[in-house]
Amino acid sequence: MAHRDRWASRATFLLASFGSAIGLGNLWRFPMIAYDNGGGAFLIPYIAALLTAGIPLMMLEFALGQQFQKSTPGSFREVGRKWEFVGWWALGVGTIIVLYYAVIMAWAWDYLAFSLREGWKGDPQGFFDRFLGLTEGPGRMGGIRWAAVAGLALTWGSMYWIIKRGVFRVGKVVLFTVPIPIILTLVLAIRGITLPGAVEGLKYYLTPDFSALLRGQTWLAAYGQVFFSLSLGFGILTAYASYQPRNSDITNNAFLTSLADTGYAYLAGFAVFATLGYLATAQGVPVSEVARGGPSLAFVIYPTAISLMPFAPVIGVLFFLTLLTLGIDSAFSIVEAAVAGMRDKWKVSQERTTAWFCLFGFLGGLVFTTGAGLYWLDIVDQWMNNYGLVVIGLLECVMVGWFYGTRKLREYINEVSDFRVGWWWDFFIRWLTPAALGVALVTTLAQEFRAPYGDYPTWALMVGGWSILAIIIVAAAVVTSLPARAGRKEA
Ligand code: TRP
Repeated sequence: MAHRDRWASRATFLLASFGSAIGLGNLWRFPMIAYDNGGGAFLIPYIAALLTAGIPLMMLEFALGQQFQKSTPGSFREVGRKWEFVGWWALGVGTIIVLYYAVIMAWAWDYLAFSLREGWKGDPQGFFDRFLGLTEGPGRMGGIRWAAVAGLALTWGSMYWIIKRGVFRVGKVVLFTVPIPIILTLVLAIRGITLPGAVEGLKYYLTPDFSALLRGQTWLAAYGQVFFSLSLGFGILTAYASYQPRNSDITNNAFLTSLADTGYAYLAGFAVFATLGYLATAQGVPVSEVARGGPSLAFVIYPTAISLMPFAPVIGVLFFLTLLTLGIDSAFSIVEAAVAGMRDKWKVSQERTTAWFCLFGFLGGLVFTTGAGLYWLDIVDQWMNNYGLVVIGLLECVMVGWFYGTRKLREYINEVSDFRVGWWWDFFIRWLTPAALGVALVTTLAQEFRAPYGDYPTWALMVGGWSILAIIIVAAAVVTSLPARAGRKEA
């Protein structure tokens, strides 16, 4: 058998998993979702979702990759031939996500440069709109924005350089890209907390509203955030675990990764809301008026606050460096997982497949660098996360819970792990987790039919939402039906 690549150490594997999980989602999604859903009280549903879905499913994804020593489609195929399809589907969803994720990083490169001269000064919103060349709707593409294209080339170029040798270089790169954003966020949090008005923002973030716990919406939000944030349902963690020796600990690794991710998200909330409190105080408006998540937090609200601070260029550079180092190890984790899937199936070369993939990613991302890019990004993001991800999580539960056997997988997990898990794990994977995901899915779908997403025209949701999903599913079926290439003799 050919030798499989190996992580240099357990710590390297853990760092890479942390890097994949800890991404832009922690910084601009968690704090806002927490605020919308009970503030400080949100930690209760979040931790419940972590324990009942996040950690059990992460153990499942780790265990499959590590046991079968294959990337996602290959590992799923070991359960049954047809399941390979779900693996490709997961990688397809991740691939679409990384197309726009890389564009957000492209903007961050540009803003890193703008920070030096505080290019947005005076009118951050207008500056961002002009920078994007934002058109009036998704139907008007406007032109390609060359500054974004340059940033995109930089993003894909660095990803290519990192992954072309497989996990060897990944292991070296995460030594920097994991601790750096954590340290920088700590710096930004301390800077934020020491600004006047910070307390107002933190009150806003943390004041517990226990009545939110009675709303179904809060619990759904918690499950959704756990999934996206832990990088579950993308086939990433299975691929990463396949480079671990078969006898490595699983339970501890899953707990550590989940807790590191949650801890960072909680910390990011301090950096974000302290700064928002400062901004609101300086402008004499309530915090609720400046509190927004998503791209506008990073590219409009935060820059506005930065301009008001002493040493603005320094803070600007630190902030955009945080975004870039946060994003890159999440982004390349899916590329690595997809390349691993193709490599396992067709025995293609790591370097050449990575090159083609990165080229495809760059070209595919160009859509989001047009004047309508932000609209398309928003639509695609909504569909991939709500339908792609949750459905895959559900299928993974069904696959292991009802076809492979939770008992069998749990025995393997317990054999290699320090901490042994009991029957509860079987119960979660067979019943609780799929039930929670099923409810989330049905609720979102019902919502979608009652009020279609955003103010977009229906055709745009068809193109950017449903048809992309359909294409992924068809492509996954086609790839599954293609014959694999038999292993070569040499390693
Ligand atoms: N976990 C990442 C975050 O919190 C996001 C993420 C999940 C992601 N899956 C991905 C990014 C796939 C790129 C590709 O930001």
